[in-house]
Amino acid sequence: MKLPVVCETVDAPRVLNDSTRMTAFTTTLRALGYDLAGCAARLGSFPRLGVNFWDQMHPHWKPDPGHPVDTLISLFIDGTAVAADCLRSHTSTSFVDVACEMSLLKLNDGMLQPKLCLFPCYGLYIVTDGSARNTAFNQVMWLWGESFLLGGLANRAPRRRAIDLGTGSGIHALLASVHCESVVAADVSPRALEFGRYNAALNGRTNVDFVLSDLFNAIPGSADMLVTNVPYAPDSAAKAGDNFWSGGLDGFDLLRRIVAALSERLDDGGVAHINSLYPNAPGTTIRENFDRWTAGEIDGYEVLDHTWAVPTYEDALSDEPYEGDKSAWRFGVVSLRRAASGHGYWRELGKRGGFFASDGSCKFVADHDLYAPSPSIEESQKPVLV
Ligand SMILES: C[S@@+](CC[C@H](N)C(=O)[O-])C[C@H]1O[C@@H](n2cnc3c(N)ncnc32)[C@H](O)[C@@H]1O
Repeated sequence: MKLPVVCETVDAPRVLNDSTRMTAFTTTLRALGYDLAGCAARLGSFPRLGVNFWDQMHPHWKPDPGHPVDTLISLFIDGTAVAADCLRSHTSTSFVDVACEMSLLKLNDGMLQPKLCLFPCYGLYIVTDGSARNTAFNQVMWLWGESFLLGGLANRAPRRRAIDLGTGSGIHALLASVHCESVVAADVSPRALEFGRYNAALNGRTNVDFVLSDLFNAIPGSADMLVTNVPYAPDSAAKAGDNFWSGGLDGFDLLRRIVAALSERLDDGGVAHINSLYPNAPGTTIRENFDRWTAGEIDGYEVLDHTWAVPTYEDALSDEPYEGDKSAWRFGVVSLRRAASGHGYWRELGKRGGFFASDGSCKFVADHDLYAPSPSIEESQKPVLV
């Protein structure tokens, strides 16, 4: 499935001088029930595969203009124009004015044209570029199911310092900012950093540093939380880093650098949560790749593997997607912690489509303590590790 393609310049969202107006805006969204549960209740499922497949999943869903959440979904997720009076009737004149001043909407002949997406996400509001492919600039990725999956699976224990590589809209850095003392959010796209800073302001988060950095290159030191969703699609038309999807020829250009840096960048006791497509060569596994990239050290990590097989994966974005054997491809989140004992494990826990509850929340958390083999069990009796 290919996405609709447009070519038009779109302004990045604008931070308002008066922060109370931004706060009033998000307060109104919350009061109207524009959150994960509210969207799930209206749509029957949210999030799941991500915005671009909703029409196929819900061919008969029609927004009710009398319902505020439907109106907000139409505007801010589906990208459909709505009469300004309709939104005003659910909110207020100043809500509409603020949305336009922040460049989320544009008023034209009484109709509000959406310019950007605005997603509810685990208590935060995240603005991204629109969800059609726009060839005019390097787009900031809208939230797909994967963004909600990584956000939901990541363990929210208090942490000293988080690093988010490939932050895009800033979603994972901002979620981390709630339970970490400080966060560094890295991206190679200046537009992404602009969105990240805007989203920090929209959500009143002040402990995130957004930096222009090729992965770890401009970031000193280590972290006890690493969260990342860098581009992963095997693509011969674009280099890794050119856009939000290309992971280079084999898809692993960025991921292999991150995994190779874990020994230096991840603190003892720290956890790395890595969302990716894992386009493994036929007959190979994620574990084998990670072992090679960590120079044979993967047995020293406790690994929770929430991935599932995707042998029919369709690339909706690349101009020249990979068309070969995908029999060993997987998708999902791999969470790693260095084993204190030096002897780790690899647990495969992924289940296709079983991650989200009907209220839109994620049913699972990557909790290493839950799966650690008990030290009281004899070595020979420990569960067989995959
Ligand atoms: C798939 S998007 C993920 C966005 C966001 N983290 C999420 O999960 O919704 C990948 C992001 O990685 C960024 N990126 C690409 N190459 C990078 C690199 N070498 N270093 C840092 N970020 C990079 C892209 O600009 C893009 O914003």
